[in-house]
Amino acid sequence: MISAAILGYGTVGAGVYKVLSMNRDLIKGRVGEEIRVKYVLDLREFPGDPVMEVLTHDYSDILNDPEVAIVVETMGGLKPAYDFTKNALLAGKSVCTSNKELVAEHGVELRKIAAEKNVNYLFEASCGGGIPIIHVLDSALTADEIDSVSGILNGTTNYILTQMMDAGQDFSDALKAAQDMGYAERHPEADIEGWDACRKIAILSSLAYGKHISYKNVPTEGITDIDAADMEYAGLMDMKIRLLAASRRTEDGVWAMVAPMLVGRDNMLYHVDGVLNAVLVHGNAVGDTLFYGSGAGSLPTASAVSGDVISAARHLRRTMASDWKAEEMELMPLDEIKHAFFVRFSGTEAEAEAAFGKISPLRLAGRTEEFGFVTEVMTESSFRKAASAGNVIKRIRIA
Ligand code: HSE
Repeated sequence: MISAAILGYGTVGAGVYKVLSMNRDLIKGRVGEEIRVKYVLDLREFPGDPVMEVLTHDYSDILNDPEVAIVVETMGGLKPAYDFTKNALLAGKSVCTSNKELVAEHGVELRKIAAEKNVNYLFEASCGGGIPIIHVLDSALTADEIDSVSGILNGTTNYILTQMMDAGQDFSDALKAAQDMGYAERHPEADIEGWDACRKIAILSSLAYGKHISYKNVPTEGITDIDAADMEYAGLMDMKIRLLAASRRTEDGVWAMVAPMLVGRDNMLYHVDGVLNAVLVHGNAVGDTLFYGSGAGSLPTASAVSGDVISAARHLRRTMASDWKAEEMELMPLDEIKHAFFVRFSGTEAEAEAAFGKISPLRLAGRTEEFGFVTEVMTESSFRKAASAGNVIKRIRIA
């Protein structure tokens, strides 16, 4: 019997407790030993819930129990998750987490401690919810040179954008629905300002390119500025607006960014709606690959965490190899990143052409005070220079 403890009985922690109990026999068959949840740590009480039998309010019960070999950290945030994780690893316990904030901030250090202690720090659920994308980059595609990773990595914003486009729902109503369904972060700014997707693309890109990418260096824009008129223009162009988190290895260097972008039908991400996430990875041997599934929610995220618990149980006292190095990756400056831009413009067509060259105007019925157009592919700095002539209401990059 292998004993585990779960830190935090929230959406994900409760999901892990449920998956490990609902699939107990199947998991026992796959590991060769039963995995028992000996403790669940939470400050709250849960009257009537069977979890009360294993509930503790004191982390030292877990840390000081030599039987506990695996700790599941589903608390989120940095404090006290960082200290709890570090202490568990130092005590020779493996840790499995869904905490992208902690992985993006301290993942390299925590993996190093895990390796020194012959245990594992596993974080499959930190990116893409139930999609096993970390295993893909850390194991299955390690024979390839990866040259691009791009995806829809935040379920809340994808749900909001889908509802705005397909159902004409208001931004705040769609956000409220995402919160009610347990998709959104405790502070939803992390979703709608793009910070959550930023941390995820930093983690994925670090694994993909073999050097550490700090999320702090990834230019990030959220979706709070997207409005109903943007959706109408997107429809006119037969495109959708999606919050994309992307990174590329180019001849000029590696860049990464998070921003709302327009995607056309020829892009596989066009077809990803609602809370679903998808990640496109291109490798020099494998070519294009697409990973698609539930990016948030209790059971899908719990599936990923529980898969890590099984991996940890199969590799007790043996660290699995990983290619996440501490060496920092220098990213290309935002100014040098190239895209075509969709522009909403309030001047005349002649003024638009004077600034951006030949354009094909797009007009919305009943909106005479502005029109839209798409620029050629240009760098961010060239775009800014052209836009400085004035009259640009808004720009959205084209993926
Ligand atoms: N708030 C996150 C999302 C949860 O909406 O994708 C999963 O990381």
